[in-house]
Amino acid sequence: MPRSLLSLESLPADAMLEILASSKRLKSERGRHAEHPLRHQCWGMIFTKSSTRTRVSFEVGIREFGGDPLFLSANDLQLGRGEPIRDTARVMGRMLHGAVIRTYAQSDIEEFALFSGLPVINALTDDEHPCQILCDLFTIGERLGDWRGKTIAFLGDGSCNVPASWLWAARKLDFTLVIGAPEKYQPSAALRARLGTAPNIRYETDPATAVRGADVVYTDVWVSMGKEEQARERVDELRDWQVNDALLRLARPGALVLHCLPAYRGQEITEDVLEAHADAIFQQAENRLHGQKAVLAWCVAG
Ligand code: CP
Ligand code: NVA
Repeated sequence: MPRSLLSLESLPADAMLEILASSKRLKSERGRHAEHPLRHQCWGMIFTKSSTRTRVSFEVGIREFGGDPLFLSANDLQLGRGEPIRDTARVMGRMLHGAVIRTYAQSDIEEFALFSGLPVINALTDDEHPCQILCDLFTIGERLGDWRGKTIAFLGDGSCNVPASWLWAARKLDFTLVIGAPEKYQPSAALRARLGTAPNIRYETDPATAVRGADVVYTDVWVSMGKEEQARERVDELRDWQVNDALLRLARPGALVLHCLPAYRGQEITEDVLEAHADAIFQQAENRLHGQKAVLAWCVAG
């Protein structure tokens, strides 16, 4: 089987470190890459959910590596009318060279990888957002000199894909992760059982305790894609977890504020905090390009 990035749960630590190291090199070499590892390759981008950053960064990255991205909205494919994933995968496996997939069920991308025989990259599922977290570690390294030894506090909906990928990164790499969320929005018992206990992972249900001493304060939307019908109760139940000036004062002085975006000002973050930290947050968005090129290069090198 070719190399795929289906989750951080399944990605070994040495692969994460290799991707992080080449993100840095690829960023510094942008526009003058010696190698074009996707030359003569066509990569499908199969998206069932909306995307700005992930879509644009992968399309640009594939082109910068000499390849052709083919954007395929799942609703325009026969998939949207009920053609099985395994049949779609077997067709595409005979035509494409790789696939970047954003969808709901993690099992769908795993089935696609199995039946297509292609390298497959998870561009977000309900379970994980692995590319986001690899790119964010790269950004933390750029801003703070290193991510090793730092304390990252994820605040808000601790039960969604982004904190899940943070948890797997923390399980395998050397930093401290605090998941700060009300009990109802903590990571599922099933995920916590698979993770096991780790001395560098804490789960906190009090916002002040969660953020105290953090080097990085990280948040994500309160209403993830697919959860829209719960929007009202989520905004109500998570309101104490807004990243605002009062909460930030409890973090380490000069703490980095990151947001994977899109941001909903007045919900998970205030306008003031977002704008005060815009330089870091949009550097974080830019680094999706460099980090995902490193993921692409890692996939085709295998
Ligand atoms: N952060 C992120 O994945 O953004 P998009 O949904 O715009 O791709
Ligand atoms: N948790 C969010 C991430 C968006 C990039 C979602 O799944 O919608």
